[in-house]
Amino acid sequence: MTIGTIVCVDDQAEVRRLLADVFRGRGGSVVSFDDGEDAITWLATNDADLAVLDLDLGPGRRSGIEICRAIRARLPDLPIIILTGHGTIDDAVAAVKAGAVDFITKDPYLEDKLEISVEKVERILQHALDRKRLEEENRELRATNERLRKAAGRRWQIVGDSPAMRQVMTKIEKVAPVPRPVLVLGPRGTGKELVARAVHTLSPRASEPYITINCAAVAESLLESELFGHEEGAFTGATKQKEGKFELADGGTLFLDEIGNMSLEFQAKILRVLEYQRFERVAGSLSIQVNVRVIAATNLDLKQAMIDGKFRPDLYDRLAFEVINLPSLAQRMQDVPVLAAHFLARFRQEVAGISVKEISADALDRFASYDYPGNVRELKNIVERAVYMAQGEVLTAADVDAALPPEAAQTSAAALPFADDVRLPLPERVDAFEAWLCKDALERTRYKQKEAAALLGLSYDQFRQRYRKYGLGKD
Ligand SMILES: Nc1ncnc2c1ncn2[C@@H]1O[C@H](COP(=O)(O)OP(=O)(O)OP(=O)(O)O)[C@@H](O)[C@H]1O
Ligand SMILES: [Mg+2]
Repeated sequence: MTIGTIVCVDDQAEVRRLLADVFRGRGGSVVSFDDGEDAITWLATNDADLAVLDLDLGPGRRSGIEICRAIRARLPDLPIIILTGHGTIDDAVAAVKAGAVDFITKDPYLEDKLEISVEKVERILQHALDRKRLEEENRELRATNERLRKAAGRRWQIVGDSPAMRQVMTKIEKVAPVPRPVLVLGPRGTGKELVARAVHTLSPRASEPYITINCAAVAESLLESELFGHEEGAFTGATKQKEGKFELADGGTLFLDEIGNMSLEFQAKILRVLEYQRFERVAGSLSIQVNVRVIAATNLDLKQAMIDGKFRPDLYDRLAFEVINLPSLAQRMQDVPVLAAHFLARFRQEVAGISVKEISADALDRFASYDYPGNVRELKNIVERAVYMAQGEVLTAADVDAALPPEAAQTSAAALPFADDVRLPLPERVDAFEAWLCKDALERTRYKQKEAAALLGLSYDQFRQRYRKYGLGKD
């Protein structure tokens, strides 16, 4: 980040010259004024990246601090550095209060100080730029999700704000309107089907059929008839003519899920249909023409399969017009909190009477401590089970532990105070345990003492007694 245009205001010509030298030396262009009012007028119609103001602009003129205030009122994002001949603490405080990012005394080291200060400003500007870009990206992401939500309901919403998921969303948006195949790759449970659905939903074909077939779930002899249909009497049991998925998907999208295990001959058949959009039903002679957009998915490593001679490179090339790679959840753990919140919200919508309304920070930590070999699907199942079994309004770490696979959960005994410390006398350990249970009940009820008492099966008075004894107020 380099600073483009710098406005310098100083009533001393030699300081203006020095400032101009320093900034031009850094590749900036400098506009100098000896009077603050002129700078304000100039800034009303021109853009600048930085202003450097002298504090004392001469008798009868507004001070640099006042000029700074006036500029900030109109251009709150323009960084301002204030220079001073003497530099008292009061001046420095006033400068910062007026919104200056830095305050520098004019002494023999002015040049060095300016350099340091400018680097600081550059960092601030870079920061602002990054934030703006991030906000922009977030807005785009929200817009895409909004379209998905409107178009097809919450069910197809893709959640995640990791850089990897942003990239996925950008690709989906880009390829959706292009009537060419898309290949979706990624380990199990990473959202391949969701992505395929999103591509269809965001395409001009959204209101046309969306047909899916799991190629691995059907024996190959049947797959042919499933995809291309058959004529009456094509094989034993084919009592009447049947349309295949390609015909059903005409005008819309066909999602070929788990394409990794088809035989090479069958892959050749698929390739032919992709290229000519033409095929015959099993035992049929009529050539049927369709207009189908194909999206294919697999969790196999197709590159390896090609090396092993198990996947046709020509089919790969055809399918890979656009490849969307979904990383494992472990590679984008920053998505875990938003995904957990999303699955909680969806579960609440779907099921009446769920007590949990929010997820505690401890529970989120626990979600983040596991590596999810089953990826997003596994996270979803764990969130739902934890929420289903929990009793309070706030999901606790213990609730998450109860739903995590046993080897991943931290045993609650470890979380209990003094549970293992056999040196302490029993009454103290019992007290510690009681205090822990009361605190846990408070957390589950968001510190509503009446509810916490009820959760523990205590009267309010009994609960209050322990509340005071253990000093359980929120710290
Ligand atoms: N980014 C995401 N946002 C919201 N939900 C997601 C996301 N990714 C996956 N899911 C949910 O996780 C579950 C699994 O996703 P999906 O079926 O799309 O995975 P897949 O990659 O097709 O898995 P498989 O290889 O096992 O078929 C679904 O319930 C899906 O809605
Ligand atoms: Mg799938």
